[in-house]
Amino acid sequence: MRKLISALALFLLAPLAAHAQTAPILTSPEAKDVWTHAQPEVARVTHVSLDLTADFDAKEMRGTATLDILAAADAKEIILDDAGLRIESITATETGKPLAWHVGEASEHRGAPLTIALPERAPTAADDAGESDGHWGSRITIRYASAPGASSLQWLAPEQTAGKEHPYLFSQGQAIENRSWIPTQDSPGIRQTWDATITVPADLVAVMSGDRVTPEGVAAGADSRSFHFEMRNPVPPYLIALAVGNLTFGELGPRSGVWTEPEMLDAALYEFADVEKMIDAASELYGPYRWGRYDMLLLPPSFPYGGMENPTLTFLTPTLLTGDRSNTDVVAHELAHSWSGNLVTNATWSDSWLNEGFTTYFENRIMEALYGKERAAMYSDLDWDGMIRDIEAAGGEDAPATRLRGEPGETFGQLDYFKGSNFLRMIEHTVGRERFDAYLAGYFDRYAFQPQTTAGFLADIREHLIQDDEALEEKLQLDRWAYQPGLPGNAIHIESATLAEVDADLEAFKSGAAVSSIDTEGWSTQEWLRFLNGLPRELPEARLAELDETLALSRSTNAYVRSAWLELAIANRYEPALPALYEFAGQVGRGLLIRPLYAGLMQQGDWGAQIARDVFEKSKTTYHPTTAGQIERMISADSAEE
Ligand code: BES
Ligand code: ZN
Repeated sequence: MRKLISALALFLLAPLAAHAQTAPILTSPEAKDVWTHAQPEVARVTHVSLDLTADFDAKEMRGTATLDILAAADAKEIILDDAGLRIESITATETGKPLAWHVGEASEHRGAPLTIALPERAPTAADDAGESDGHWGSRITIRYASAPGASSLQWLAPEQTAGKEHPYLFSQGQAIENRSWIPTQDSPGIRQTWDATITVPADLVAVMSGDRVTPEGVAAGADSRSFHFEMRNPVPPYLIALAVGNLTFGELGPRSGVWTEPEMLDAALYEFADVEKMIDAASELYGPYRWGRYDMLLLPPSFPYGGMENPTLTFLTPTLLTGDRSNTDVVAHELAHSWSGNLVTNATWSDSWLNEGFTTYFENRIMEALYGKERAAMYSDLDWDGMIRDIEAAGGEDAPATRLRGEPGETFGQLDYFKGSNFLRMIEHTVGRERFDAYLAGYFDRYAFQPQTTAGFLADIREHLIQDDEALEEKLQLDRWAYQPGLPGNAIHIESATLAEVDADLEAFKSGAAVSSIDTEGWSTQEWLRFLNGLPRELPEARLAELDETLALSRSTNAYVRSAWLELAIANRYEPALPALYEFAGQVGRGLLIRPLYAGLMQQGDWGAQIARDVFEKSKTTYHPTTAGQIERMISADSAEE
């Protein structure tokens, strides 16, 4: 019986919550997060209150974090996650008395446990009346600074910004980076509300992933301004995000707009003009948008991702600005996370497909609602290509890394996106769109502001959709999709007619047609990608030169095109493209466009390894610390494939 109860994803509900919004945690075994040191069933953080100054000279965030804690009756201490924080003192907030604390041994990825003795418990009226279940609240204040190399933070010199005059700072929390600047329990299953006061040089503006309480900021001494932010919904702490720079705002709709440096504002407003319609389409599909505003922050080119779904303020790479709105799938994607990921969150990173696979499916539905079936088909057809490539690169159909639910970080490449979204598409096609949409809307509502596991999702879909229909259960093969490697036979490949035309061009090219006979006029990013990735991996130098001269690939201002072209050039050791490689690698920090180039170089023996190391040496200050770390590991001497 005990076993049964724990297998049923027991909720630990917070009875004495200081904030009305305290979210449940999951205590079933499959919800255990091995990437945190926290023991939330003993003592957990329910609210984080930051008061920090961004010091651009010292490259540190400095000040205090005050944590609301909910503890079990006999809890004596709380364990937080800490990656290199410089802690000055920890005190009981109410009394100011110092608390005992120590930092344990750090492990390479997870950082170290920070164990703090809880303040003495003062009996409450509920205790006296014998009505309490024993949980009790307390508050502690940590005075600290982040380390200059904090993995979540990138401090940019003015030259690395569009305006070249002011420094810039941004944070990136996913997956477990925020512990390098916020002392808290950094697990996606431990939701917390938060507020923050951020003090910055007076000529800069701070933005965060929460409500802007002081739009203009408040003077803080002669040369500084403070901005205050609040997030009243409990969120996983990886979604707390900050940026500081010479930022300006442009409105797009009643609840949406763009923050960016003034130099990029007009281009951004053009590129993202459809966002308000996207919010409407998404709400129409799966229920109300619950976060108030949906703004976007367009970052400098070193931003390591295409986008990051920080609540109320999606972070975006400037590589989306191609002037033709063909990369707004990324906006649809980050917006979709407002449901899949931010509302219902993977309990651990082993379940990342619940965030990314659901979101990739949902993103495609938004694109279809706005631009029609063919445009959506282009994106899903390309995702199919990506899935097949990833399965192969993971080691084939039997490789454990092709499982949706694996060890954390094990699922290969973007299979959590591609195989995950295909899983949902298969369910849609099997049960019918109307039924599946109604189910998903219900799912987001039932688990709003809660963590979720693969087992939890499967139990829910069986209860609410399959409802003992054995024939349907047989057709779907849910467990096979969720837990087994490879691609089940009922997967659905959506094919795009537009991309089929590109395939015809590729065939012509392969049979020797001149590049000039291919009509690339008006091609979207997706057509370019199908073409460039579909070219034979081995080409004679003359053919490469013809491609580059005719299509101006080395000079393309579309970063997707430039990256795909350079990948091909590297695979052929085509040296005339090297200047374009150096230029690109020193400008763009988006991992998805940059990592394949280093990986490609490392597959080219000594020739490539030497170039990889030289390019990295010259470009590394462009990259965010996590991206720089990934590349450094890829190109280190012992990883070279000779
Ligand atoms: N949440 C991810 C970004 C992320 C993933 C950060 C893993 C840290 C670790 C975001 O929603 C995302 O998936 N971005 C994609 C764009 C998408 C359209 C595929 C990206 O960055 O390219
Ligand atoms: Zn995503």
